[in-house]
Amino acid sequence: MTAVLRVNALSAGYGGRVILQDVNFEVQPGQIMTIIGHNGAGKSTLLRAIFNLLPVRSGGIFLGERDLSREASDRLLLAGIAYIPQHRSVFPRLTIEENLRMGGYLVRDKAVLAERTAKVLDLFPVLKQRTGQLAGMMSGGEQRMLEIARTLLQDPKLIMLDEPSIGLAPKMVDAVFDNVRLLREQGKAILMVEQNVKKALSVSDRGGVMELGSLHIQDQASRLIGDERVARLYLGKR
Ligand SMILES: Nc1ncnc2c1ncn2[C@@H]1O[C@H](COP(=O)(O)OP(=O)(O)OP(=O)(O)O)[C@@H](O)[C@H]1O
Ligand SMILES: [Mg+2]
Repeated sequence: MTAVLRVNALSAGYGGRVILQDVNFEVQPGQIMTIIGHNGAGKSTLLRAIFNLLPVRSGGIFLGERDLSREASDRLLLAGIAYIPQHRSVFPRLTIEENLRMGGYLVRDKAVLAERTAKVLDLFPVLKQRTGQLAGMMSGGEQRMLEIARTLLQDPKLIMLDEPSIGLAPKMVDAVFDNVRLLREQGKAILMVEQNVKKALSVSDRGGVMELGSLHIQDQASRLIGDERVARLYLGKR
């Protein structure tokens, strides 16, 4: 089976400073892969490097068979990669409906866009009831739902989520992870970065531990939850 995403010996950084060193992993179709790691480990940098928001020094980033390591971000969107950054990215002064329309701006065929919008609103009843509301007036969790819904309008193959649960109340955290599962049910491959280690791994298929810009451990998510090193360093157990 061809991986949706294959990252091969990736090294990248900011200016002269190398952050990511020789990172290798794959995300298979219909799979959720979660990267965990301490603050400053390079998790966000990894997603940014894949989305070509910082220069790649060496290595390859493949979507299917296609090498995308030198492609601009708008080309990556067209190729099927969606990226939801760590900090909120809804347009607060636009309505839910207008935000969704922004997510579909690369879709040329109006009929296709209308069909996708209807389908997405059916998946997210919270949004459907309030399409005319300003996005900035929604709770943090609801804004995350909107970001997730918005990515679906471009029908991506891979969705990258940087800490989708950050700053949310526990109930909202569960709702967001339910939605990440929902994305997998839609056939999407997911690459997620999370600090909410236990909950994130429990919805994931695979996981990786990033330390100082390298992926040290990679395994099935269920095995990582039981891994003694992960428990000690990331689940606060001794
Ligand atoms: N724009 C930037 N310019 C220079 N250095 C940066 C920049 N952004 C991040 N860094 C550095 O890169 C390293 C990795 O940062 P990154 O944001 O990827 O960590 P992270 O694992 O996502 O952390 P967190 O869990 O806090 O979000 C850090 O040492 C950080 O200081
Ligand atoms: Mg980060």
